[in-house]
Amino acid sequence: MRSINLAILGGDGIGPEVMDASLKILNKIGELESVDFNYEYALVGGCAIDEFGAPISEGTLKMCKQKDAVLLGAVGGPKWESLPQDQKPEQALLKLRESLGLYSNLRPANVFPALVGASSLREEIVSGVDVMVVRELTGGIYFGTPKGATKDKGWNTMVYERHEVERIAHVAFDLARKRRGKLTSVDKANVLDVSQFWRDIIIEVHKDYPDVELDHMYVDNAAMQLVRSPKQFDVIVTGNMFGDILSDIAAMVTGSLGMLPSASLGSEYALYEPVHGSAPDIAGQNKANPLAMILSVAMMLSYTLDMPRAGDILVEQVSQLLEEGYRTQELYQAGDKLVSTTEMSELLIEKLKSAYKAESPN
Ligand code: IPM
Ligand code: MN
Repeated sequence: MRSINLAILGGDGIGPEVMDASLKILNKIGELESVDFNYEYALVGGCAIDEFGAPISEGTLKMCKQKDAVLLGAVGGPKWESLPQDQKPEQALLKLRESLGLYSNLRPANVFPALVGASSLREEIVSGVDVMVVRELTGGIYFGTPKGATKDKGWNTMVYERHEVERIAHVAFDLARKRRGKLTSVDKANVLDVSQFWRDIIIEVHKDYPDVELDHMYVDNAAMQLVRSPKQFDVIVTGNMFGDILSDIAAMVTGSLGMLPSASLGSEYALYEPVHGSAPDIAGQNKANPLAMILSVAMMLSYTLDMPRAGDILVEQVSQLLEEGYRTQELYQAGDKLVSTTEMSELLIEKLKSAYKAESPN
């Protein structure tokens, strides 16, 4: 039997709850697909600070590198907000990205038909939206030097090296080719030198992908266009900070941050996590929506573990549960069937069982 080893980093707030719900699903998929999932757990974020004084340990980073993939819940919370910058829970994420070389962050924003009404935008604008934000994740202003702050001055530096832009461009063009063949590169080339540099390299790499249609947009315009007519986008590629902002906008266009998964990929390692945060206000109450974490598991099955059929079945069953009206609290509207985190995951397990049975009746 194939054996798959995963690092499990539940983190803070609702992280551990949505992780538990997702691992129950994964165990069931293991049974149905005859693969053996093994989990090794570690603390990251605020809980790690409380336990051993740092948001992530060297041992945890090493452990992650020995696994087939990493699953992460969420980190952070009010308890740790006033710590100095380099000791905050968020450092765990940045360290993981940096030391595992996870330079490409894929954040799909699409709308399940059952949820078009959840968006703050009109249904005709939202229905059918299917955007993939490809965010560069280990460079740009998040990691550039010099950086620092004194009493009178604070500074960070937005730096990109040629190889960093080239490799993220290839990821984005390859994805666009597999999707609808359109790539939008987002920058601020009217003001920033680093952005003109970015744009020139994207244009160079485009020569390898004549079948993909490329356009360029300034980031302020892209933010506006995402809200005005999101369906014009297929794949968006952009730098670290613009991608951070645009992926939140794209997420909110779909109306349900609690639904959106992400993949952070490098040449050797892969990490999957929901886009939503640790939601401390509802932590520990069995109210959190586990579907973003579950959909992150689906991305892992398809992208890293070479189990695309299992990934597709999982997404399809999530979609059906939503069609049947099941909602966790944050998406609940009158007439829906309100369920808890654990109930959602139990319902999904039943759905998976019947889906696999229907595929192979004996
Ligand atoms: C995200 C988050 C992180 C980021 C923070 C928590 C470091 O906002 O994953 O989008 O800015 O990258
Ligand atoms: Mn963010």
